[in-house]
Amino acid sequence: MWENKIDIHQITEIRAKTTTYFGVGAINKIHTIADALLGKGVKKVIVVTGKGSHIKTGAWDVVKKALDEKGIGYILYSEITPNPTVDQVDEAAKLALDFGATAVIAIGGGSPIDSAKSVAILMAYPDKTARDIYEFKFAPDKAAPIIAINLTHGTGTEVNRFAVVSIPEKEYKPAIAYDCIYPLFSIDDPALMTQLPAEQTLYVSVDAINHIVEAATTKVTNPFAILLAKETVRLVAKYLPIAKEDPKNLTARYYLLYASLIAGTAFDNGLLHFTHALEHPLSGVKPELAHGLGLSMLLPAVIKQIYPVSGEILADVLSPIIPGLKGTPDEALKAFDEVKSWLKTMGIKSQLKDEGFAESDVEKLTALAFETPSLDLLLSLAPVEATKETVREIYTNSL
Ligand SMILES: [Fe+2]
Repeated sequence: MWENKIDIHQITEIRAKTTTYFGVGAINKIHTIADALLGKGVKKVIVVTGKGSHIKTGAWDVVKKALDEKGIGYILYSEITPNPTVDQVDEAAKLALDFGATAVIAIGGGSPIDSAKSVAILMAYPDKTARDIYEFKFAPDKAAPIIAINLTHGTGTEVNRFAVVSIPEKEYKPAIAYDCIYPLFSIDDPALMTQLPAEQTLYVSVDAINHIVEAATTKVTNPFAILLAKETVRLVAKYLPIAKEDPKNLTARYYLLYASLIAGTAFDNGLLHFTHALEHPLSGVKPELAHGLGLSMLLPAVIKQIYPVSGEILADVLSPIIPGLKGTPDEALKAFDEVKSWLKTMGIKSQLKDEGFAESDVEKLTALAFETPSLDLLLSLAPVEATKETVREIYTNSL
């Protein structure tokens, strides 16, 4: 296959809206990025991270050194948790404003990057709060420059205009999408991902699969999203088993990371629908639930639901994991079974009831899917009509 002909140590520049430095060793491009920030007059930045991965991966060492060398001042906010909250964003934004930072550097997976995007908005709107953003009290059209140093291969947030932050007291986990939060530069370095634990490796890869299954089948999908979708499935199906077996395999990490990047671009173009709209209530209610695990428990039932209308696209896109589908409506159950068994082979055996959800939760989850700001928009993009009945059925079929 041609994949082996690519020099994975060559740092390539992938230009979508964000310019991403992509390849083994790309972290060193932080020096080039620091120069670009200086060129924009940035003298101080806030660095937004989780508790430890920025240190464990070695990314912070390189970034700190570059900032010191270039004379860029920084303040570190390292309190971002999985399923980050509006309070964390407010706290970081206050720190940034008090310090006089004019740009944001995120180091981490989706949670730190999405939080940093939100902080960047508040730096441009100092009189607003994160609740104002996530309750859609205003629509920002400016933000401080965002640099995303990505440490997981799943969310795709380093290349798109989405961010997700939770409002805990309402159990809401809304998503925003604004042009002003495309990162200016991103770094995707597979060498920073070899320590990702097995479970996380799996969940983030399944997140990418969900992005494309949805992006390729919304009411507004396009051929570009479908092209990226098919390649994402091919690469994840091929390289996820290798990364699970041999976590330090750089070629596997490179292609899983590339798959998540193109999946992030796919849903920037094709948007999302059921799986994400129904997962956000799950991790809104149980913040300890990994996003990718929540998605994977819903995916088979979503495929079953949409297959009768999106069968032709799904048959093509899913062919690397389910060969031989024709796309006819009668294959919906087969697609459901086969996706479920593929997830099982990869190591995901949980159903909703194994993660503490019960039949009695379905009503509340369904209500949250319709009430949480922004999720109703995703539901409206589903290829089959998203009635309460349909949503209930997907949750029930995932128990
Ligand atoms: Fe996602």
